[in-house]
Amino acid sequence: MNSSGRLFRVEIFGESHGPALGVLIDGIPPGTALNSSDFSADIARRRGGQEGTTTRIESDMPEILSGWYMGKASGTPMLILFCNTDTRSSDYETFRAMPRPGHADLVSGIRYKGFADPRGSGHFSGRITLALVAAGVVAKRILPGASFNTKIIEAGGSKDIMAAVKKADAEGDSVGAIVEIRVSGLKAGLGEPFFDSVEGLLAKNLFAVPGVRAVEFGDGFAAAKMTGSEHNDPYIGPDGKTAKNGAGGINGGISNGAELVVRVAMKPASSIKKTQKTWNTKSSSIEELSVPGRHDACIAIRGAVTLEAAIAIALADLELLSRSRSCTE
Ligand SMILES: Cc1cc2nc3c(=O)[nH]c(=O)nc-3n(C[C@H](O)[C@H](O)[C@H](O)COP(=O)(O)O)c2cc1C
Repeated sequence: MNSSGRLFRVEIFGESHGPALGVLIDGIPPGTALNSSDFSADIARRRGGQEGTTTRIESDMPEILSGWYMGKASGTPMLILFCNTDTRSSDYETFRAMPRPGHADLVSGIRYKGFADPRGSGHFSGRITLALVAAGVVAKRILPGASFNTKIIEAGGSKDIMAAVKKADAEGDSVGAIVEIRVSGLKAGLGEPFFDSVEGLLAKNLFAVPGVRAVEFGDGFAAAKMTGSEHNDPYIGPDGKTAKNGAGGINGGISNGAELVVRVAMKPASSIKKTQKTWNTKSSSIEELSVPGRHDACIAIRGAVTLEAAIAIALADLELLSRSRSCTE
């Protein structure tokens, strides 16, 4: 289902070209301070119009319809709504017969038995991650000590991110990227050893973001090339402080108080002007497709903040679970 979390419960809904999209959040501690203006900074990071991103421009104004009173969360379910206005659905009609390679046109047809809203990629659009960003803003309110530092560290294998994006864009193509998210100020002791490990819950939420291809923590895949003496983090004090952070802030599925280090591979957007081949179900033949419309040449530019939100949502749930744990001693 489209929901995440146990105590901080998030459910997203909506379509790219339907009237609206949004998020329903349950479990916000009553009295959590929150105002519409608190959403502005993160929403701006996801907005189109920047180089290498879609030219679709929406106001993205959050309407808090419930669970909020006089600048504070009331504790009842909070519904946050965003209206869609800048839609151009005709761009998407071709994909009914000619599914875009790499996109969800074919599988959404199968999964929803032909009834899914195809306009603007419907529920499979990157547009829906606006709801995730809104939930991320609320989640961060539940993690007051945590500070997020998120950046694109490479695109198309190059450190010169904008050069790689401009090149792909000029060629009518798109480019993938790696986003690094660091969270400092997280307390030690969040998470469970097995299925609800910090890595497990974070990865689950990160893979909810469309276009995510891989996630690694700390040394990640590089750990497979290391020896124990290289990968281990030597303790240098009584408080669990370590000389380095190859584990990325997690041991045994539990946060260890060090900085959380997560890297996420985002794929190149599948909607490209460059000609690709696809199967046309009307003519029953392979045909060439050049995707029209407004698309991101590098989805990581707008996607970075959505990954941060996905992490914040999982951490807020873990934080509330840890507050609910009691001990008889
Ligand atoms: C912020 C954001 C913006 C996106 N923009 C586009 C886009 O302009 N064109 C496109 O084809 N895919 C875009 N995507 C990715 C698609 O939504 C995604 O590829 C599609 O739903 C299929 O899912 P998958 O790639 O995870 O298999 C975007 C994703 C995000 C997170």
